[in-house]
Amino acid sequence: MSKNAGSCQSCLHSWFDYETPKTLVIPSLGIGCVFRFAQLLVVLYVVGYVCVLQKGYQETDSIISTVTTKVKGYAFTNTSDMDPRFWDVADYVMPPQGDNSFFVLTNMVVTPGQIQSRCPELPNLSKLCVDDCDCMEGYSDPRGSGIQTGLCENYSTTAKTCEVLSWCPLEIDTRLPKHALLAAAENFTVLIKNSITYPKFNVHRRNILPHINSSYLKRCEFNRVTDPDCPIFRLKDIISEAGEDFQDMAVKGGVLGILIDWSCDLDWWAGKCYPKYSFRRLDNKHPVNNVAPGYNFRFAKYYKTPDGEETRTLIKAFGIRFDVIVFGTAGKFGIVPTIVNLGAAFSFLGLVPAVIDWLMLTCSSRRHLYSRQKVTYLIEDGEAESTPMGTSYGTQ
Ligand SMILES: *[C@@H]1O[C@H](CO)[C@@H](O)[C@H](O)[C@H]1NC(C)=O
Repeated sequence: MSKNAGSCQSCLHSWFDYETPKTLVIPSLGIGCVFRFAQLLVVLYVVGYVCVLQKGYQETDSIISTVTTKVKGYAFTNTSDMDPRFWDVADYVMPPQGDNSFFVLTNMVVTPGQIQSRCPELPNLSKLCVDDCDCMEGYSDPRGSGIQTGLCENYSTTAKTCEVLSWCPLEIDTRLPKHALLAAAENFTVLIKNSITYPKFNVHRRNILPHINSSYLKRCEFNRVTDPDCPIFRLKDIISEAGEDFQDMAVKGGVLGILIDWSCDLDWWAGKCYPKYSFRRLDNKHPVNNVAPGYNFRFAKYYKTPDGEETRTLIKAFGIRFDVIVFGTAGKFGIVPTIVNLGAAFSFLGLVPAVIDWLMLTCSSRRHLYSRQKVTYLIEDGEAESTPMGTSYGTQ
């Protein structure tokens, strides 16, 4: 019986051989232990990772959420740049609606009494000129302050710049106060109201938990240890939990994330569905590559003088934008994910014999005996013969 002769008859012959597994019992304590140990590892994986950690038996749903915010606090400023002034929420919070993203003004450059007229460009924004030929009428540089009129004018006694048509006097935003104007904003508080829904499980929750009554809400303030459920946060606490210093951040502004994690386990034996707050600075504050730091924008307030001329006060506002970010998934026992995940996990049990076979036939000291017994080629006259190849296993 030459099976590897290569003639066409023999390859056809082996193609139509039927192979059927036969049980070979190996009474070896070592191999038996390895086999049971490998099975135990698979079972531990299924129980520990798939069931306990991944909760593979649960159906999941993602969150739908809405957030409203309300900032409170007052400040009084008395600095050399500005008249003494009282500030309330309508002055320093933008936009006023109380969205999930709100801005608290902390520092500013104010340019009052601007009117539409002509004035020489700032020397740091454009090249100096010598005479009118250096200026081009109608040209406007997007980084400049206005549209050039074609004249070269004295900016100061030493510098001449091109005249522009603009809101004059021009804003000089290099004069940013070194200490935040509204330093008192660190003591402002914000009330965050957050309602969420998991539509698949028909679960509705809000971050003002059922045990919070209105008198507690009037006086409480969030503290991770003493008042972890209070939805009123002091801005300074939010920022220090994010690892930043309020007064530092208030000078040039920044973006801060208030993260609310609503991960819920809705099974009756877990029954956990509470918000978890965390805070994190979201804009880049890389200590080395710190070009263009902070957050600012400009807005203006418009007036008419008694003689009918329009004037405006331009404000370059620096401050902290708070973004409330709500996330989470809910899980609840479901029969379909249970079957699918357990089936997939237990299929690893089917790999165990293949691994043990390989170990047995390559590493065991009695591998020659085992491989002779492993494949039996049945000869037509009814007598069984061990592998014709002698030691190789699995040859056809
Ligand atoms: C904030 O309030 C604390 C006491 O509640 C006070 O010591 C601190 O000076 C206040 N901060 C500012 C900038 O006013």
